[in-house]
Amino acid sequence: TGTVLAQGLPKLAVKKTYRVGFAQTESNNPWRLAQTKSMQDEARRLGHQLVYTDAAGSTAKQVADVRSMIAQKVDAIFLSPREDKPLAPVVKEAAKAGIPVILLDRNIDPALAKAGTDYVTFIGSDFVQEGQRVANWLVKNAKGKTNIIELEGTTGSSPANDRKKGFDDVIRKNPQFKILASQTGNFARDTGRQVAETLLQANPTANVIYAHNDEMAIGAVSAIRAAGKRPGVDIIVLSIDGGKEAVQMVVDGSINYVVECNPRFGPAAFKTLAGYAAGQKYPAKVINADRDYTPQNAKAGLASAY
Ligand code: AHR
Repeated sequence: TGTVLAQGLPKLAVKKTYRVGFAQTESNNPWRLAQTKSMQDEARRLGHQLVYTDAAGSTAKQVADVRSMIAQKVDAIFLSPREDKPLAPVVKEAAKAGIPVILLDRNIDPALAKAGTDYVTFIGSDFVQEGQRVANWLVKNAKGKTNIIELEGTTGSSPANDRKKGFDDVIRKNPQFKILASQTGNFARDTGRQVAETLLQANPTANVIYAHNDEMAIGAVSAIRAAGKRPGVDIIVLSIDGGKEAVQMVVDGSINYVVECNPRFGPAAFKTLAGYAAGQKYPAKVINADRDYTPQNAKAGLASAY
């Protein structure tokens, strides 16, 4: 981040209001609902027309949604790409059609599409750092031999790739920490619960579950209880997102640590759109500052959690 790129992108006329697309990945969890609400609230506040699509967990539908926005000639497109490779071609198609794209929350594989050429910028969290923060908390707080089950997010998504990389890289450097199993739970509560149940049975010595998001962590808490163990005590539970339900579970002690991934993108998204139209240059990545929730601060943080 921090590098100002040469802009080879479509221009955006300075206007008071825009008709702008927002291509969402799915709506099956509180994080996505909070992100959509933030975009809709800010669009309404500023008088923009938001052309909203929900890919309902289908990458193919999201590709079609973006193509439909291009056909409708929207002024610009906000995109949270479900996966980091299959959405690259439509990002380029939008640029060729003269429509600037701003990536929100999830990124595109940088080998396939470039900020400053194919899209304006990426606004979101540093997913590698999120994984590192979780691992660093564990290394500092775990006692003795630590056997980890990892629940990965949606396969092929930038948060799943990067949260795994950030976490695994730190863990690998600490010989008393071992990742026994790592499997996708698709960022979903019930899939997370089912995968955690299977992996707990197969790995009876596991004493940590690291979930790439709150939904899977909450599912894992149910699986731990179903296995007759105490979440947060017999098995440490670690998560990323920071929704109210998970933060309450940190207060209650069934989740031990959560790194925030803030879903409230509306204000930054529309500010960037206006800045881009006015000729402002953006770095390849604009990174959100995220907090964390520990047993010490979770109660105080509950009110501001989404
Ligand atoms: O891309 C961010 C991730 O996607 C959030 O952690 C998760 O809850 C969502 O579905």
